[in-house]
Amino acid sequence: MIKRIGVLCSGGDSPGMNAAIRSVTRVALASGIEVVGIRDGYKGLINKQFETFTRSSVSEILSRGGTILGSARLPEFKNDEVVANAASILNEAEIDAVVVIGGDGSYKGANALTNHGINCIGLPGTIDNDISGTDFTIGFDTALHTVVDCVDKLRDTSSSHHRCSVVEVMGNHCGDLAVYAGISCGAEVVVTPEIGYNEEEILEKLKYLESSGKNHAIVIISEKVTDVSSLASKINENTGFASRATVLGHIQRGGSPTPFDRILASRMGEKAVDLLVEGVGGHCVGIVDNEISSMPINEALQLPKKPRKHFYRLFDRLV
Ligand code: F6P
Repeated sequence: MIKRIGVLCSGGDSPGMNAAIRSVTRVALASGIEVVGIRDGYKGLINKQFETFTRSSVSEILSRGGTILGSARLPEFKNDEVVANAASILNEAEIDAVVVIGGDGSYKGANALTNHGINCIGLPGTIDNDISGTDFTIGFDTALHTVVDCVDKLRDTSSSHHRCSVVEVMGNHCGDLAVYAGISCGAEVVVTPEIGYNEEEILEKLKYLESSGKNHAIVIISEKVTDVSSLASKINENTGFASRATVLGHIQRGGSPTPFDRILASRMGEKAVDLLVEGVGGHCVGIVDNEISSMPINEALQLPKKPRKHFYRLFDRLV
């Protein structure tokens, strides 16, 4: 029977992490389990940055973006000695299990800690929606709302100036933010790692759209695919549109979580505690067809990325 659990956030933050922390804390306390907040991810764990949480430690955080615990990346956590040290720190602090909120790098750490005798459950906290074993990650919906709001504004000014806006969105190596935003905003072109970068094709399409009377255009492009400023220059030179590039950057990681993300995080937090009470470790929680589920982290990390062919096809049919 577990008596005390820890909760930490690791990797890039995402809106809804606080809702997950709150859910883990409140569900655990209601089940008679003590909760320890661990600051700054695995780094804070190694530095013993622990705080015993009460119900009120997580009051008024549901609507706040970011994470009250702080988050950090600790590449050294790949090293088995570092993980063994973390496990003995947790044993010493009498923390029986940990809920880790983060991306797939954080999941690997959670799995390694489980192998060292500390049951861990991973919750998918990232705006990228790039984690297998779940249809949605905590923070994706909020980031998508932010992107849509920004692109709608860019469309206003682009249409006043006969311009093509090239907008770079985050996603790491996943094109979900770009293609979901493309459909939501009625973009003319979407470029993602999944479909690849074909500059000639993009320029031809924009030239054609301009010559057939389009007043403005929006190109949404995933980060790490190409340099958006140089693409904007090529559009200036080769199509009838003037062009400007906008990198949305970290603005996408902030903001108050949407109700969808608050509910998702609350449901997932509850599931994490229930799994730990059942004695399960090394699992990650997901939402599949609107049902909360879990699977071994090892299996989730091996799964191929969710296919989005229908989204790309729909996007093409709507342009
Ligand atoms: O994983 C979340 C994410 O925001 C990615 O979309 C992006 O590539 C990366 O983190 C940025 O990392 P950092 O905040 O360290 O610059």
